[in-house]
Amino acid sequence: MSSIAFTNIATLVTNDVSAGEGAIGVLHNATVVVEDGLISQITQTRPSGVDSEVDCSGKTLLPGFVDSHSHLIFAGDRADEFATRSQGAKYTAGGIASTVKATRAASDADLRQNAQRLLNEALSTGTTTMEIKSGYGLTEKDELRSLAIASEFTDETTLLAAHVIPEEFESNPDGYVELIINSIIPKSKAKWIDAFCDLDAFDPEQSEAILRAGVAAGMQVRIHANQLSAGVGVALAVALDAASADHVSKSTNADIELLASSNTVATLLPGAEFSTHLQSGLGRRFLDAGATVAIASDCNPGSSYTTTIPFCIATAVSLLGFTVEEAVKAATLGGAQALRRTDIGMVSVGKRADFVLLNAPSYIHLAYRPGVNLVHSTYKSGRAVTSWQK
Ligand code: NIG
Ligand code: FE
Repeated sequence: MSSIAFTNIATLVTNDVSAGEGAIGVLHNATVVVEDGLISQITQTRPSGVDSEVDCSGKTLLPGFVDSHSHLIFAGDRADEFATRSQGAKYTAGGIASTVKATRAASDADLRQNAQRLLNEALSTGTTTMEIKSGYGLTEKDELRSLAIASEFTDETTLLAAHVIPEEFESNPDGYVELIINSIIPKSKAKWIDAFCDLDAFDPEQSEAILRAGVAAGMQVRIHANQLSAGVGVALAVALDAASADHVSKSTNADIELLASSNTVATLLPGAEFSTHLQSGLGRRFLDAGATVAIASDCNPGSSYTTTIPFCIATAVSLLGFTVEEAVKAATLGGAQALRRTDIGMVSVGKRADFVLLNAPSYIHLAYRPGVNLVHSTYKSGRAVTSWQK
């Protein structure tokens, strides 16, 4: 067994309220001991008999960010579309078609290289777990190859063949729903099934049929709900015991109450709010209702082209009404809950030693110093890593 001690941690965020102060269980001048990739001890005295030591004086150690929502398998970008929004255009689902075209034309190597680039960015800003969706292929071959490439990088893979109706099925949308149910779902090896239940995407009946077929094939549910319009997305998520309902920007108070009384996490996507149609104070409504809240990057070339969770934390605090503690918790423990994972999201004995070391005396600096990369190093299973690997 090899052991490593992270000593003199100025501020340690545990997310364990029984272990430290306040809502995210903070300790000062603590030491974390890691043995064989797992956290074996948290102490405020000097441990003896460890094999090596990392001196964390003046730094903050917190759980690695768990990014529970991303769309990393794509080619091309949509900078021009973004620029039209800066001139007043509204975000719609219509832009997805141009990314579908570029993705279908790309080689596996191009898609793999683009995902690796984005995952390296995420790692350098503290992300240790990433969910990755398909959804820019929209043919049997292109959805399955997107999932295969995603699975090279993560076990948290999501089939989002139900992203939009592809152009070739425009006059026969139910034909595409049948293709998903009869041809794509049976061959999917993804952990999760997702559907974009919204305006210009999939209607409630189509979404429900696809999600139920996914469950019957062994996948678990997460949903893009109420991003662009109010509707039944949240209710569908709760009815299907989805792990998470994501975006939820246009939720009614009834939707929020429903989420708060369910096992479904509300995942807010500050990058998408920032880049499309910011709902100022949105997070507060969910937090005050007592819902379990996650924040994630939603990294994609249309609505949120960021891999950087500290940016999402800063945006959640300054614009969506989160306290700093609520935002940090939502990006770590909240993300783990949105993926129904109990092995990550906390710095506590027995959990995986996935964490971030910040060049800052407090986690508060994540929001206080927006746009500055404070990450000193990112650890996965107790090892400092600089290139993303599964
Ligand atoms: O989660 N809303 C649906 N899908 C993505 C955006 C996709 C795109 O615009 O390319 C999202 O925001
Ligand atoms: Fe999304």
